[in-house]
Amino acid sequence: MTSSPAQPASEPADDRVAGAGGRRRPTLRSDLRASIPDGLIAVAVTGAVFALIYARILAGTSSTLSVMPFMADAEKFWMYFLSQAFGWSALLWAWITVVLGLLLSGPRPSWAPLSGQRLERLHRTTSLNTIALIAAHALLFAAELVRADTAGWFAALATAFVETFVPGGYDSGTGKIAIPIGQAALYLAIPLGLLFYVRHRIGPKTWRVLHRFVIAVYVLSVWHTLLYGTNVWYDGWFRTTIWLLQLPIAALLLVRLLRPARRSEKLLGPRAHTGSSTGWALRLSGRLGIVGVIAALIGVIISGADGGRTAPPEDTSSSHVHD
Ligand code: HEM
Repeated sequence: MTSSPAQPASEPADDRVAGAGGRRRPTLRSDLRASIPDGLIAVAVTGAVFALIYARILAGTSSTLSVMPFMADAEKFWMYFLSQAFGWSALLWAWITVVLGLLLSGPRPSWAPLSGQRLERLHRTTSLNTIALIAAHALLFAAELVRADTAGWFAALATAFVETFVPGGYDSGTGKIAIPIGQAALYLAIPLGLLFYVRHRIGPKTWRVLHRFVIAVYVLSVWHTLLYGTNVWYDGWFRTTIWLLQLPIAALLLVRLLRPARRSEKLLGPRAHTGSSTGWALRLSGRLGIVGVIAALIGVIISGADGGRTAPPEDTSSSHVHD
């Protein structure tokens, strides 16, 4: 399927054929079922990342240990490492689903190996799996807090819940900012992703407008990772790669804004524009803003000023600043 003004790509193809007696409208239940294959791949990826993190802890080469030397007991802290692994698969799935979403709402490349309908379904299933992976990441962090807590079960559970899920509940170190950023990503991802399934009640236009803000979920996720991930705590190729991976997203976002699938979203000249001049100025500044983001990303990557801490000293016992 190619996107054309008559068939805006941001309206699900499944919906378009529903009235014609074709496929049934996707529901949360049908999409949850369809999410199983890529969910299983996500679990396998998480397992592989966990194995890598665990092996690096055992070998003493993980930068998590430079930040938190007490975590050298891999068996004891396995839930923390599994939480890290789910964080990485969540971020990867978020990246994939954002790329798919931008391909759907912008000009679809002729070389895309999947039909529009398959691409849309994959976008929905990877989105559902992203939410599940973030939830698993946070829940394992909470489980580790419970395990480490010497208070009784109930008190430990209550503290872990507050520290993990209540903004402001985690009140020490970088986590004071980084945890609420992660929570904001999770709490925004749920409505902005799931409102799709009630779009007939809220109106497809309302849904489309709200769903656009889902890019904020992705930005918050990357910000949270670069701020708090101990595997990207220090300068180095891995941190640089995370920054580099944001370039295709920014470029696709720019292309999507310059050549939207829906004709009504095109930025016409100020005279040809029929809406308000404020709306036109906002659209123009959005496009210019993305150009600025791309320039900033290139600047960060070239200069290496990417917020990474300098490599730890030989004796890492004094460098613990992550709590
Ligand atoms: C309730 C929300 C969240 C909580 C409580 C939370 C908690 C944490 C914690 C405690 C860390 C530090 C782990 C370390 O030592 O490296 C962390 C890192 C990380 N988080 Fe989250 N997070 C949340 C949301 C998210 C979201 C929305 C994403 C992405 C989609 C994400 C992805 C990551 C990644 C990739 C890391 C780096 C792990 C590493 O360095 O190995 N988190 N998170």
